[in-house]
Amino acid sequence: MIKISPSVLACDFSRLAEEVQAVQNAGADYIHLDVMDGVFVPNISFGFPVIASLKKHSSMVFDVHLMITKPERYVDRFIDAGADILTIHEESCDCVGETLQAIRARGVRAALCVNPRTPIEKVYPYLDLCDMVLVMTVEAGYGGQKLIPETLDKVRALCAERAARSLSFEIEVDGGINAENAATAVAAGADVLVAGSAVFGAPDRAEAVRRLRGE
Ligand code: DX5
Ligand code: ZN
Repeated sequence: MIKISPSVLACDFSRLAEEVQAVQNAGADYIHLDVMDGVFVPNISFGFPVIASLKKHSSMVFDVHLMITKPERYVDRFIDAGADILTIHEESCDCVGETLQAIRARGVRAALCVNPRTPIEKVYPYLDLCDMVLVMTVEAGYGGQKLIPETLDKVRALCAERAARSLSFEIEVDGGINAENAATAVAAGADVLVAGSAVFGAPDRAEAVRRLRGE
């Protein structure tokens, strides 16, 4: 079954806990938390205190996407704050293998992410250490962008590589996913769909989640 991970970047931050509760009630599987440092990406979102506060009000799986420089510096603090899945970018980490291992050593699912212009082959040396691979379908930094269709070729290649190596990590796609292109992303091999605007921008979140699942 396809999993849906709504990104809070598109929610009403003044009502964060209620917004997250609403998508949990709507049947979402994970909650996607985009952390941006204004250096690796040209935007700043939120950090540990927001995640730690929210954790007290939600039993959802916290899918934390770190768009920060040298994420290895902050693995422990994001895990302490409540990350259940912790995603680092290949482009911003100086020690990818060690960092994925450090995440797993804390009992948290480790995920590796690539931006649209990074070849998917860059993650191949680390696939044994990944519980999930996140393929960005827009340039990291902002919600509300349009999906770049060529990025789905990377999902197809990664899906084939996973089968060839008999691995079982999840494949997540992030950026510009909506009810119109979700089926194409799933056909390409995506298991987890991140969706910000398509869920939080919809008047009926349960319907939005169902439509993303193709129901
Ligand atoms: C972009 C973020 C995404 C974003 C998705 O850098 O990683 O998670 O919030 O938002 P939509 O679904 O609106 O593209
Ligand atoms: Zn994200």
